[in-house]
Amino acid sequence: MSATVAVQKAEPCYRLIYRSRSLLSEQPGDVDAGLSEILRVARSNNRKQNITGALMMYEHKDWFAQVLEGTETEINTLFERIKKDPRHKSVEVVETGDAPARLFGKWAMALIAEHGQPDAPLVATAGGISEAAPWQVTEDQENVLTRLRDITRGYGRSY
Ligand SMILES: Cc1cc2nc3c(=O)[nH]c(=O)nc-3n(C[C@H](O)[C@H](O)[C@H](O)COP(=O)(O)O)c2cc1C
Repeated sequence: MSATVAVQKAEPCYRLIYRSRSLLSEQPGDVDAGLSEILRVARSNNRKQNITGALMMYEHKDWFAQVLEGTETEINTLFERIKKDPRHKSVEVVETGDAPARLFGKWAMALIAEHGQPDAPLVATAGGISEAAPWQVTEDQENVLTRLRDITRGYGRSY
């Protein structure tokens, strides 16, 4: 039996991770509708620019954490826009740098949340991403998602 290895071309990218405090509860309309609107626009724009990533909303919907992946120029341009968005405040960069490959290459913007219809549900009690997630979460993805969860919980403040 020959051992065939599916080789996926690793595409290097620039990755930026930040957290912020959501102001969606202070906006007209409900928080879920506000979140859906962010995702709708984000996915449409990101698809055009080959930007991928994940957005996590956590802790009574008070915090956002987002991973953005793409070229450095495009990510920085997008981030300048995101920073000025009145739907959140206290935007703090957690990590930036080149990465050997995209972690969320399939997602124009995956939603990671406890409620609604996330791409990967958070399991608050287990403190991890559910195995029932509709995608098989790889170890690297799990590490970054855990990081997102921790920064929105107030852990790991020493960066
Ligand atoms: C938490 C959060 C995450 C966002 N993520 C993205 C994103 O990934 N891509 C994007 O194009 N816009 C994103 N936006 C929306 C942008 O801030 C901005 O409203 C949108 O890009 C449209 O910009 P424009 O009105 O200048 O065209 C996000 C906004 C918030 C509050």
